[in-house]
Amino acid sequence: MVSIQTVAVLGGTGNLGPAIVNELLSAGFTVTGVTRASSTNSTPKYPDSVVSIKSVDFTSFDSLKDAFTGQDAVVSVVGTPGVSSQILAVDAAIAAGVKRFIPSEFGVNTRKVRDWPIGKILAGKIAVVDYLQEKVKEGKEISWTGLSTGLFFDWALERFGLGVINLADKTATVVDSGNEKFQVSNLRQVGKAVVGILKHPEETKNKYLSTSSFQLSQNELIKTVEEVTGQEFKVVKREKSEEIQKAGEEKLANGDYRAFMDFLRVVNNADGAGNAVTEEESANRLIELPYEDLRETVERWLKGAGVI
Ligand SMILES: NC(=O)c1ccc[n+]([C@@H]2O[C@H](COP(=O)([O-])OP(=O)(O)OC[C@H]3O[C@@H](n4cnc5c(N)ncnc54)[C@H](OP(=O)(O)O)[C@@H]3O)[C@@H](O)[C@H]2O)c1
Repeated sequence: MVSIQTVAVLGGTGNLGPAIVNELLSAGFTVTGVTRASSTNSTPKYPDSVVSIKSVDFTSFDSLKDAFTGQDAVVSVVGTPGVSSQILAVDAAIAAGVKRFIPSEFGVNTRKVRDWPIGKILAGKIAVVDYLQEKVKEGKEISWTGLSTGLFFDWALERFGLGVINLADKTATVVDSGNEKFQVSNLRQVGKAVVGILKHPEETKNKYLSTSSFQLSQNELIKTVEEVTGQEFKVVKREKSEEIQKAGEEKLANGDYRAFMDFLRVVNNADGAGNAVTEEESANRLIELPYEDLRETVERWLKGAGVI
């Protein structure tokens, strides 16, 4: 029976990483932070309870292998520029005897979108999961788990009102009818999902999983914000998903990867998109991850924003 205790986290200094590191530490894992030797990152540093911070050359197999030696698992939270460096990290993890590699996924289910326009932008991530699958097929002593979490809900509310709520003028923007449900996870929930995977190594071995805080629609978000604030958030803009998709395709044709946000809105919000995670598809139960409450999260956001 595989048991995981030591965990190396790559890129744990960005938007998502601290939430994963903190949940791993709270759950009693021994965490090593692996950071680029060239890092100029001034975002939150690893907490003191991280046992060591290793500066690594991500282009050097030996440097990565040294950092991974003695680690049961590698959790990669590298941002987009680091996605392709994970191929070498997988090789180094295999050589170091790492048992589980969790690649930097944490968003759209990339197994599902391979042949969609958004899949072109996510090709780097897709290649890493393909590579892990190949290595397992070749009989290498490593296993992997991919995790789709949907949009980071609290993070996206704070930064851009999830593209739906405009707090400044108390208005809302909606794609299509606003009724389509989509998958979201709060940052801490993503950290808890990683913990759940590492605590259930057999059940999660060589699987691509989807978890969430909850599924919601744009209209449910607006209604919840209205209930919590006691104020009306009038829908002043209604966009058509076909037009958003077309705009994304035009951008992509010009090599403009900002198309990602257009495609993401269509994947999540277009009427009939069907990308919410059903109870049968959800791994929350498998890894003993309770769902969260929409209203509680919205209240936390509005308190933090000084609105209530
Ligand atoms: N679902 C969502 O809503 C959502 C939103 C944002 C991100 N994501 C996903 O979550 C994951 C993490 O994203 P993030 O926003 O937390 O990333 P990020 O903040 O952009 O970067 C995370 C860390 O990656 C490391 N890094 C940066 N460039 C690198 C390179 N060239 N090679 C190796 N490492 C590099 C840096 O760590 P050091 O400086 O310590 O080396 C950085 O702090 C990604 O898979 C991303 O696509 C999902």
